[in-house]
Amino acid sequence: MLPSQRSQHALTMLLFTLSLNFPLTLSQMSGNPVIDGWYADPEARVYEGAYYIYPTVSTVFENQTYYEAFTSPDLLTWENVGRILDFADIPWTTNRAAWAPSVGHKDGTYYLYFSAGDGVGIGVASSPSPAGPFKDVLGEPLVAGTHFGAQAIDAMVFMDGEGPEGGDGSGKNWLYWGGWGHAVVAELGDDMVSFKSEFLEITPDEEYVEGPWMLKRRGVYYFMYSVGGWTDGTYGVKYMIADSPTGPFRGPAKKILSGDPAVGTGAGHHSVFHVGDDYYIAYHRRFPDDNERDHRVTCIDRMYFTADGEIEIVRITVEGVEGRQL
Ligand SMILES: *[C@@H]1O[C@H](CO)[C@@H](O)[C@H](O)[C@H]1NC(C)=O
Repeated sequence: MLPSQRSQHALTMLLFTLSLNFPLTLSQMSGNPVIDGWYADPEARVYEGAYYIYPTVSTVFENQTYYEAFTSPDLLTWENVGRILDFADIPWTTNRAAWAPSVGHKDGTYYLYFSAGDGVGIGVASSPSPAGPFKDVLGEPLVAGTHFGAQAIDAMVFMDGEGPEGGDGSGKNWLYWGGWGHAVVAELGDDMVSFKSEFLEITPDEEYVEGPWMLKRRGVYYFMYSVGGWTDGTYGVKYMIADSPTGPFRGPAKKILSGDPAVGTGAGHHSVFHVGDDYYIAYHRRFPDDNERDHRVTCIDRMYFTADGEIEIVRITVEGVEGRQL
């Protein structure tokens, strides 16, 4: 998909750099999208010295029946590691709606939380490697059906401890999920495949739609989520803050991600990762004027905080981010 656009872009950047007579070291940019093909709902993580992206394979609806993952050493080149989980191997789900996965870890095992069967539930699969392949653990959903009106999609595992990725699994681990305008959270059990708390509805009162993401920085909990309609230009990301992973969340909610008609529309369903104190946001968007339902591409841009800890509005770009080795 559009390799010509990408090489055109690389050439433009090169000429631009040379024309300014920069030193010989080119600071290479990733370009956006960072991976070729239709991929949505990207969850970016840093595991074992590499970057990972776990997206929805945004092919035609009837073929959204498996998960793939991508890995990169430098944010510039991304390798597709192949199918990491396939609904053909999971009898309890219908063969549809493999959406929005999330990967956490504990004690050397990686856990993939995944939407299954368009309402059947959220499952969990495990692997000794962040690159998979993952195997269904329970033989049934971890979260079955609808709770508090929340569609059983868009799981996000939040590891609330200290550690290189903002959590090494040894602290409290939480699973967030929910579409249809409702968000739910529960504390995961020590085995990562059960719950040790009740389900708690935590829907923020300001326009929550789907795609929850919990971020902790300097003791502040940022509950981020997608708003608007995913099929059109109203899609975006807002956040509220709290002193705990379960809220209560304080507003006013601030919208930090939106489309830009010159760059791409429908920007939303994001994740956040960081290298030291530098923060990055992964999200999907559409190409300007391409309104095909599943034509969504995965992008990464920088995310900045103000001195008093507010998340600044993200500037979405075609240039992407600077290459960076871990
Ligand atoms: C969807 O899957 C079917 C069956 O494997 C295949 O024939 C078809 O080409 C796929 N369509 C797309 C757009 O990938």
